[in-house]
Amino acid sequence: MKRVKIAALLSEHQLGSEVLIKGWVRTFRNNSFIAINDGSTINNIQGVVDFEKEEKEELKRITTGASIQIVGEVVESQGAGQSIEIVVKSFKILGDANPEEYPLQPKKHSLEYLREIAHLRPRTNTFAAILRVRHAMTFAIHEFFNDRGFCNVHTPLITATDAEGAGEAFQVTTMDLKNVPLDENKEVDYKQDFFGKHTSLAVTGQLEAELAALGLSEVYTFGPTFRAENSNTTRHLAEFWMIEPEVAFADNNDNMDLAEAMLKYCVQYALDNCKDDLDFLNKRLQDEDKSKPQLERAGDLFEKLEFVANNDFERITYTEAFDILRNSKPNKKKKFKFLVDEWGIDLQSEHERFLVEKHFKKPVIISDYPANIKAFYMKLNDDGKTVKAMDILFPGIGEIVGGSEREERYDVLEQKIKDQNIPMDSVWWYLDTRKFGTVPHSGFGLGFERLLLFVTGMGNIRDVIPFPRTPKNAEF
Ligand code: 4AD
Ligand code: MG
Repeated sequence: MKRVKIAALLSEHQLGSEVLIKGWVRTFRNNSFIAINDGSTINNIQGVVDFEKEEKEELKRITTGASIQIVGEVVESQGAGQSIEIVVKSFKILGDANPEEYPLQPKKHSLEYLREIAHLRPRTNTFAAILRVRHAMTFAIHEFFNDRGFCNVHTPLITATDAEGAGEAFQVTTMDLKNVPLDENKEVDYKQDFFGKHTSLAVTGQLEAELAALGLSEVYTFGPTFRAENSNTTRHLAEFWMIEPEVAFADNNDNMDLAEAMLKYCVQYALDNCKDDLDFLNKRLQDEDKSKPQLERAGDLFEKLEFVANNDFERITYTEAFDILRNSKPNKKKKFKFLVDEWGIDLQSEHERFLVEKHFKKPVIISDYPANIKAFYMKLNDDGKTVKAMDILFPGIGEIVGGSEREERYDVLEQKIKDQNIPMDSVWWYLDTRKFGTVPHSGFGLGFERLLLFVTGMGNIRDVIPFPRTPKNAEF
């Protein structure tokens, strides 16, 4: 007999038919009712065993976490909460889970505790739901770009450039750290390293995506990204996934349009395709809200998602944002940790959240930032002091997207590379594209886990990636 997945069984079944189900025991009540889940849906199927007929020793093996297969007849359910159940004809325990040792019991575990046993998290309702939503969002992103004729390109994960210029890259080396080769100046001799030069894990795939866009017109990357930022926040990972589209013949306005359309598409996709999982996550959120003060409550997840899917984002320049912030109550009352006083300061997350959550109460796109707080590749405006950058800020998250129009003028770009002391031998190829058939082009990066935080309503980025990497943590 062929195994049926629970999702399929619940959506299309024939009463009276015999089925084979395999999965993990969630609960076993009254020696009769087995709730089984196989991860295909948040919903369990209930198997009803006739304990009079079964061997008592075998029944004892049906414990939370054990893997099991059952064969039985699909019948209408007598109990509340499910439409069908299975009258078990035979069952077999495939793998025991000793209740004395199994760390997951049918009760609410804290997210912190679950992080310590991340190897078992996929067995929980919450994480299975998140992983299914994560999959759906991956699919939505590929569908969005594919439908628009974008080509998915794979950019290298090992690189010799520090594209964001932040010096937050993980070094890649095969050198013996106890015996590092030195050159005549007593500096590390990277010529003897694996690649013959200093290399690191990529903080972005953008520069190579640009090379591809300048031949294929419209491309995107979707890959892991590595940053050795020592920031232990609920928004930062050392290894995260980023989506980076790059579009030739597009300016920064086109760029904002594309990013807004992509985010709305993803959110709508979740609403259309992840109903059961979002329902579950929303209930979780509402439960948590009950113990929180009014101001810290997350509110209804569906309302939040529908709002973003159906309303235009606010678009303002950095200078406009600066003015709003400088004249804001928390600034005047010195409530911000970082006061907004001088044009040119970088916006902190407290400022971003004020704009999004208090002032506009909707997603905000900020453009035209001061040149000196942004990366070298962003296109300089005619005012000579701002660049055609754009960041998208989301409620509860802060920055979710960062991007810009790219500097396509050879001389201006060359000057910026020199001004920022970027070694020419690490970016000559990038500059080269401005020498041959250069065109205006734009792109951005979406932090995938930050999108997932928004869509699932989770509060900590460690809970929307299967195995988080953060400072001092690379377990599993
Ligand atoms: O703003 P960032 O640094 O932009 C870039 O890397 C550009 N090269 C993108 C481009 O134009 N192609 O990062 C882009 C996004 C951020 O807005 C944020 O959502 C996410 O990546 N991000 C992180 N997510 C999790 N953990 C971190 N440490 C992150 N750093 C950035
Ligand atoms: Mg950024």
